[in-house]
Amino acid sequence: MQLTGSSWVDKSAVVKAFCGELAQISVTTFAFLRVRLFPYVPGRPVGQTETCITENQAPWHQDLSTQAEGWNSVLAERGAIRMKYKRKAVSLLTRGLIASFMTGLLMSLTSVAVAGDLERRQAKRIHDRIAGVPPSDTVLTAMENAIGANNALGAADMAMANSAFYNVTLKNFATPWTNRDQTVFAPLNDYTATVIGMIRDDVPFNQLLSADIIYTGDPSLPIPGYDTTSNAHYQALEDGGYDLMTDLVPDQQSTVTGLPASATAGVMTTRAAAEAFFVAGTNRAMFRFTLLNHLCNDLEQVKDTSRPADRIRQDISRSPGGDSRIFLNSCVGCHAGMDPMAQAFAYYNFDVNSGSIEYTQGVVQPKYFINSDTFKHGYVTPDDSWDNYWREGQNSLLGWDAGLTGSGNGARELGIELANSRAFASCQVKKVFKTVCLREPGNAADRNQVDTITDNFVANNSYNMKNVFAETAVYCMGN
Ligand code: HEC
Repeated sequence: MQLTGSSWVDKSAVVKAFCGELAQISVTTFAFLRVRLFPYVPGRPVGQTETCITENQAPWHQDLSTQAEGWNSVLAERGAIRMKYKRKAVSLLTRGLIASFMTGLLMSLTSVAVAGDLERRQAKRIHDRIAGVPPSDTVLTAMENAIGANNALGAADMAMANSAFYNVTLKNFATPWTNRDQTVFAPLNDYTATVIGMIRDDVPFNQLLSADIIYTGDPSLPIPGYDTTSNAHYQALEDGGYDLMTDLVPDQQSTVTGLPASATAGVMTTRAAAEAFFVAGTNRAMFRFTLLNHLCNDLEQVKDTSRPADRIRQDISRSPGGDSRIFLNSCVGCHAGMDPMAQAFAYYNFDVNSGSIEYTQGVVQPKYFINSDTFKHGYVTPDDSWDNYWREGQNSLLGWDAGLTGSGNGARELGIELANSRAFASCQVKKVFKTVCLREPGNAADRNQVDTITDNFVANNSYNMKNVFAETAVYCMGN
């Protein structure tokens, strides 16, 4: 007797499946159980199939059936059987009965039970979630063994050694941060490449918004070099199918793009970020999208009308539609906090004609003065000094670093302020959770886990993103 594509089955299937062996088990008891049976081939050659449960296979079991053959051979060798059970909603009394019944059943099976199938499924899931592609048999077995030896994190590391982790998972992870539509369907660019490279090389991720760093394709590759006026270099890297795990090299952003070193601010000053968020407008977009992508908060969630309005620029009406209450109850909520921080970008612009980022050291960009007649007494930007008014009030909950002052000059210092907040750290973990667990952290257990992984992430200033991927994948490997 063999269970093919073994699955959650109901009482009749269990009785049928065991073809008499377990037929004496009380059918009433099984009425409260769903029993998960793995391919069981006692004393029979692999490949001989008598399917006893086909009519009970629910559609969602089908993804398992393709794996059944592999399991059959593994388990046949080991003569193993494993049973797991899951309770439906049952009364406490019934639970007690089931518990004692299952204990007896499992004890009677102990003599033939060995580990293996569970670990293999966990290994498969870790690999699928981290790399997005199925593992080779060798890797799967190595991962399974690592899990069996209580080293699930080691198994996750093995999955991260697959280049698809870089070429697919991380590329898709970072791409939505690099455009206003937040779409994943955009070409590789200097922002995404820099994220991928930093994660690959274990660069502390709290440098993401401040470091003088950029990743390009290896200069020895037969593709056009980095171009400050177009994305051609990265497009060629992607079109050529080059492996981002091996073909990206780090460099100083100032060397590659020509920005003064002090004007570099990690991914915020990449060409892709500039094209998306410094283009036209008033440079508030760079602030909004950085907050959204890296502190996991849109402005709607951080609105605080209790902050001083003294730094709100002239372009914001103090009585929209003739009603000053709207200004006080709405506009202030965002602009009081946002405007003094977006001042950090006062010297930046994206020049659509040249197609490149523009930096005018010491000279505030004209876009900071547009619509100055709207409210003449509004704030006139003198330089790139910024202040974080959200350290006080409700947004102190974002967990600002007590070791920093909350004010400074320019994009880099603002990047340090943002990336050393607790919100930044937990945001990275939440994004990884979504990527690896395929859902938002939902219940209390999930949220506790996000907290724990965030604690580990910030500990000793390691900010190691690979560890976040590994720890999260292990949490969601299933059981
Ligand atoms: C939820 C947050 C939020 C609130 C509330 C808010 N703003 Fe804004 N405002 C923004 C953001 C973000 C930008 C930058 C938009 C961009 O460039 O993409 C902006 C930009 C502007 C601009 C610059 C024009 C432009 O298109 O860049 C003006 C003018 C403005 N806001 C006026 C107001 C007024 C008046 C109110 C109140 C009625 C208000 N805002 C309320 C977030 C807000």
